Amino acid sequence: MKLPFIFARRFVAGENFEQAAPKVKDLNNRNLTVTLDLLGENVNDRELAANTVDEYISLLQKIREYDLNSTISIKLTMMGLDISKEFAKENLFRLLDVAAEENQFVRIDMEGSDYTQVTLDIFNEAFEKYGKNVGIVIQSYLHRSKKDIEDLCSIDADVRLCKGAYSEPSDVALQKMPDIREAFKEQAALLMRKTSYSRIATHDDELINWTKTFAEEQDIGKDHFEFQMLYGLRLGTCERLVADGYNVRTYVPYGTMWVPYFTRRLRERKENIWFILSTMFKR
Ligand code: FDA
Repeated sequence: MKLPFIFARRFVAGENFEQAAPKVKDLNNRNLTVTLDLLGENVNDRELAANTVDEYISLLQKIREYDLNSTISIKLTMMGLDISKEFAKENLFRLLDVAAEENQFVRIDMEGSDYTQVTLDIFNEAFEKYGKNVGIVIQSYLHRSKKDIEDLCSIDADVRLCKGAYSEPSDVALQKMPDIREAFKEQAALLMRKTSYSRIATHDDELINWTKTFAEEQDIGKDHFEFQMLYGLRLGTCERLVADGYNVRTYVPYGTMWVPYFTRRLRERKENIWFILSTMFKR
């Protein structure tokens, strides 16, 4: 049975681009940049994966037509990574050819730990060919992430740092929030010191305040990093950060395949369940 979209609308901007576009415009009008995510993951059918790439290409064109200040975020399993690495890479490169022509930017979201190495391998090949048109995500909870960040710093890659949203075993990932926060700070410090522009993706006040203080102490200008938050969360905080001169980007997901994304948001914070219930009864 398919859940009705009303459940997801707090976190998902619409079931198609036309529904999402006015919400992106509204965020842009508040001086927030956006990254659009056409939702979906684990596509096992070649034709569907190829169609997805066509949809991403048309998304890049629509962003330009609608004059939106937005990049895009994609998942390699939606481009057929479960079928084969080569197939997903071909699909990604087909998208990046258009992104490069349009002077656009594509970020590869990071998925569960079974995909970490292959995602980084594909990113490294893409970075060699497309440079600053492509970026990656590192999840601070993984034990391997400090080393991955060091490698990415050495090529001045464009990295979004987040805590990590998947359920991972203790031999793969830190489990306790204080430990994850410490790892996040250590990795963010490396990124902020050693890359030209870093993306700090969190709603966590402790980490937001730490980032601001660290930047001040290290004399890292506000034009060298940005905060990123998810659509539907902490808009007031985003607006305050913008008013204080920080760059802030909102991750705006849309599409019909919203259930896995929506489930991760509910698992993350019990308060999110209350958000859903309260918005369901609001008109
Ligand atoms: P978390 O949920 O851990 O909350 C910590 C504290 O922050 C709370 O106790 C509270 O004090 C405060 N807080 C959080 N939300 C709040 C709210 N709504 N209102 C008030 N206070 C709040 N993950 C992944 O695995 N791969 C990916 O590619 C991405 N991409 C991504 C992009 C962007 C832009 C974001 C923001 C996040 C991701 N994530 C992700 C998800 C990420 O890994 C993580 O699961 C969530 O951001 C939750 O962690 P936080 O640090 O945001 O706060």
